[in-house]
Amino acid sequence: MKPRRHIFLIGFSGSGKSTLGRVLATKLEYRFIDLDAVIEEYARQSVSEVFAKKGEAAFRRLEKAQLERVLGSTRIQVIALGGGAFESADIRRIARCNGVTIFLNCSQRELYRRLRNVGNRPLLEVKPRPNETPTQAKMRRIRHLFKKRLANYRTADLILSTTGKSVAQSAGRLVQLLMGLL
Ligand code: S3P
Repeated sequence: MKPRRHIFLIGFSGSGKSTLGRVLATKLEYRFIDLDAVIEEYARQSVSEVFAKKGEAAFRRLEKAQLERVLGSTRIQVIALGGGAFESADIRRIARCNGVTIFLNCSQRELYRRLRNVGNRPLLEVKPRPNETPTQAKMRRIRHLFKKRLANYRTADLILSTTGKSVAQSAGRLVQLLMGLL
């Protein structure tokens, strides 16, 4: 038996939403949707370009509109939301009404390791303060955003820690958790 509702993966950048989402969708034979990729295709620009040229508020409007569009499909889908999507009360409501929400939790230390060399997350690009290294500045930003967002992430139906886990381990556990919901 498989869940007959959409599956929304939420969590901070680097928590494994896209990688795990793809594996989960294959296992369940559902379509996989990476909402950031959908936005990029629609805008014909990268997420970084949308942020730089139109600003964060415009990105957030696109995020909601594209989520609504994707949910117009009759197919059941595993949908990886962007790390900031759950800050929107509208998106939280839309996700809750349309399926199961899963928070992929991950330690900040591991998030930093995974995001250290990644340059396409505009909100993580911060100018170091005087006496601060670029590493410390990025850590500070991750800490700040993670703390701010945690309460909303925690409203998910299920929480799975991906810290120290392989994709295969997390995907297996995720399927078990989903079956337990039925
Ligand atoms: C964002 C996370 C990104 C992307 C955009 C904003 C955020 O998605 O939506 O850069 O606000 O944390 P990922 O979680 O896939 O990195």
